[in-house]
Amino acid sequence: MPAFYLATLTFQLFKTRPSFLVLTSSKVWYNKLGHLGAGVWPSGKAADFGSAIGGSNPPTPAIFLCEVIRLPFREDMGIDLGTANTLVYVRGRGIVINEPSVVAIDTETGTVIQVGLAAKEMIGKTPSNISAIRPLKSGVIADFDIARTMLKYFIGNARKGLPFLKPRVVIGVPIGVTEVERKAIMDAALEAGASKAFLIEEPMAAAIGAGLDVEEPSGNMIVDIGGGTTEIAVISLGSIVTSVSVRIAGDALDEAIVHYIKEEYKLAIGERTAERIKIEIGNVFPLPEYDELETMVVGVDLSTGLPRKIIVQGGEIREALKTNINTLTDSIRNALEQTPPELVTDIVARGIVLTGGGALLKGFDQLISRETGISVVIAEDPLTCVARGAGAALEKLDILNRLSKMNRIK
Ligand SMILES: Nc1ncnc2c1ncn2[C@@H]1O[C@H](COP(=O)(O)OP(=O)(O)OP(=O)(O)O)[C@@H](O)[C@H]1O
Ligand SMILES: [Mg+2]
Repeated sequence: MPAFYLATLTFQLFKTRPSFLVLTSSKVWYNKLGHLGAGVWPSGKAADFGSAIGGSNPPTPAIFLCEVIRLPFREDMGIDLGTANTLVYVRGRGIVINEPSVVAIDTETGTVIQVGLAAKEMIGKTPSNISAIRPLKSGVIADFDIARTMLKYFIGNARKGLPFLKPRVVIGVPIGVTEVERKAIMDAALEAGASKAFLIEEPMAAAIGAGLDVEEPSGNMIVDIGGGTTEIAVISLGSIVTSVSVRIAGDALDEAIVHYIKEEYKLAIGERTAERIKIEIGNVFPLPEYDELETMVVGVDLSTGLPRKIIVQGGEIREALKTNINTLTDSIRNALEQTPPELVTDIVARGIVLTGGGALLKGFDQLISRETGISVVIAEDPLTCVARGAGAALEKLDILNRLSKMNRIK
């Protein structure tokens, strides 16, 4: 018997590499330690958590493989793998990576030249042998290999600690990702050195990051307006009750501005110029102060092929964005219609919460409020909500248990 005991203990130590080990036959301590993050057996809530944090279930109740000491040193991460930006939040250190989701590659050799901001600055300016690629389009991965390279690069850069203290990673993904996409993202995180990878729906992460209590039995509506998708979700009791995902967000607004300038001024501009115009003077609510906004734009005259300068005003950009913005407000109304009345009552009491870069579009909160009759709140630091919320999900046992079950690839 002692030999068997020693063998199973050695095996568990090898498998989980815990920071310390407690031997006890007391059932009370057994459960207490389990809740602190030990791998425990027999299974139950604590056992689920034990396995969720990277431990396993020891074959005898007398053994507790504790992660308690190791936990503070492990750089657990929340990642927002966004169409426009990738953010990495590390527990205890905050947001350590916040870069555009762009990779520049040499098309002849296939080697990666730049990742992130340096690569974004190359968009529209690359020579023929270099291509600046955005691996995510409309919120989904359009180029797996490049997305995997980018994710590995960012996770690697975010890690500072000891190589054997592998982080657990929670990655925000759009609601509708396919099983193949889920597996590809999780594999990329594991290849990049994660001990465990979980995926969380972006609106859920955004809601947690915005400070909403997603686990209470009360309705919260979150609208996350990113670069590729706008995700509208009603959350209650830690789950998404209603959701609507629309492939209209920041990128579509930039395209609408490119189109408007081309039609009205016969001038060609690039997507980065359009994004600048949107951020500087873009607005969606009729207010005199927005009408007065203006900015200078340099483009290429479509008839002469020469550069030409124009001054564009806020009212014009509001007109350019109108069709897309109407689709978004219709989608929000649509989501509300699909929501059970009790939860709508909660939403009316608390207001709709906006996250993502699009939440900063001037007048969007006022417009949604006018169109729905519900007050609207812009989350604090809306661009970082998904990453911060994904990181915080690691501390929420029920959410983590749910993710753990949901993330099991069939
Ligand atoms: N002040 C601003 N006003 C309007 N739009 C803004 C502002 N700041 C950023 N944006 C836009 O927000 C978008 C990026 O937001 P975010 O980082 O939330 O997207 P993402 O998470 O990368 O995309 P997705 O969630 O669709 O995958 C870009 O289109 C950017 O132009
Ligand atoms: Mg996003």
